[in-house]
Amino acid sequence: MVHRVIPLLDQRTHALRSATLVDGPLLDQLHRPLHDLRISVTDRCNFRCSYCMPKAVFNKDYPYLPHSALLSFEEITRVARVAVAQGVRKIRLTGGEPLLRKNIELLIAQLAQLHTPDGQPLDLTLTTNGALLARKAQALKDAGLQRLTVSLDGLDDTIFRKMNDVDFPVRDVLDGLEAAHKAGLADIKVNMVVQRGTNDHEILPMARHFKGTGSTLRFIEYMDVGATNGWRMDQVVPSREVLQTLQTQWALRPLAPHTPGETAQRWAYADGSGEVGVISSVTQAFCADCSRARLSTDGKLYLCLFASQGHDLRDLLRGEATDAHLTAAIQHIWQGRSDRYSALRAALPADTGTGARRVEMSYIGG
Ligand code: GTP
Ligand code: 5AD
Ligand code: SF4
Ligand code: SF4
Repeated sequence: MVHRVIPLLDQRTHALRSATLVDGPLLDQLHRPLHDLRISVTDRCNFRCSYCMPKAVFNKDYPYLPHSALLSFEEITRVARVAVAQGVRKIRLTGGEPLLRKNIELLIAQLAQLHTPDGQPLDLTLTTNGALLARKAQALKDAGLQRLTVSLDGLDDTIFRKMNDVDFPVRDVLDGLEAAHKAGLADIKVNMVVQRGTNDHEILPMARHFKGTGSTLRFIEYMDVGATNGWRMDQVVPSREVLQTLQTQWALRPLAPHTPGETAQRWAYADGSGEVGVISSVTQAFCADCSRARLSTDGKLYLCLFASQGHDLRDLLRGEATDAHLTAAIQHIWQGRSDRYSALRAALPADTGTGARRVEMSYIGG
């Protein structure tokens, strides 16, 4: 490995000042490569899911980021270009609700131009709550979005309205999914966060609805992410239990992962009608191969969903840093990474509220 010293110009980004450029594979302290960049384009959302942005906290007094703090599309694309040269293969736009960011399709068009060093297009995708999808699906597809993930926690309208806490009807999200199919967005995933006592009875209706449609439903264990959702272990439905529930109706067989460190364990319906997934971040952590970095709305690079601090790239972007400086900074940050929060959770003392406050998922992206 060859090291060249690139002194970074901005004195404020203390830790990044004397980063060194590395030739060769970029690996963190646990030998994990950087493959996946998740970019939050807004910290705002039009839903108030209690597990993510509870109304009592995310009210009109909440200090959302001012527009000047947000990375511009050009700044985001610049970080993405540098990260892709360092090994990133997948980019996911998230939020908050990414479709609330004005002209998001322009950003997608810019990112869709990027290629990996061996000339492959990126896996470019987006996570949305679906509220604006019926209106936006065609523009997203035309801009170059390849695939899409829609969050949907149930089909029962009363429960859905209660979970999004803004009285949003489920029909509109289903119409959005329909529009996405019609626009030609293939490989659509539907993510359902399962909370015991709230929507666990929606597991089978959701599976029945999406089985055989070509959309892959994934059940997510409710996580203790952020500092505001009042998470309790007894609200988590372990994936093992979700699978048992599914198996009362259908035979399933396990599928091999597409890539190491994948979030979901994949299962195929034995009758050939597609697959479902379970994301077991609480009961079976997948940190060992985690290759995900997160870029917050205001340009901080976070190395774990549960981190309390990020590394400021915005100062570099708005200073005099060249792409080589930016590259060295990202390398330096990634090389120092040893995060594996979910794997350590069981060994950690219960959160007493006295430790560093974890950032919210709506700010660094889900
Ligand atoms: P695909 O490439 O479509 O499989 O996407 P993905 O599963 O990598 O990303 P997605 O946004 O669909 O992730 C689904 C859910 O998994 C998120 O909403 C989170 O609840 C959880 N999740 C995603 N990434 C991480 C992670 O790095 N750590 C933990 N603990 N949970 C994660
Ligand atoms: N636990 C698990 N997943 C969560 N998400 C948000 N908050 C949580 C949580 N506490 C994920 C959901 C949602 C996406 C935007 O973020 O998958 O679909
Ligand atoms: Fe919004 Fe998604 Fe969070 Fe719900 S989970 S509040 S839709 S960002
Ligand atoms: Fe990666 Fe952190 Fe999630 Fe573990 S808890 S999988 S290290 S983001």
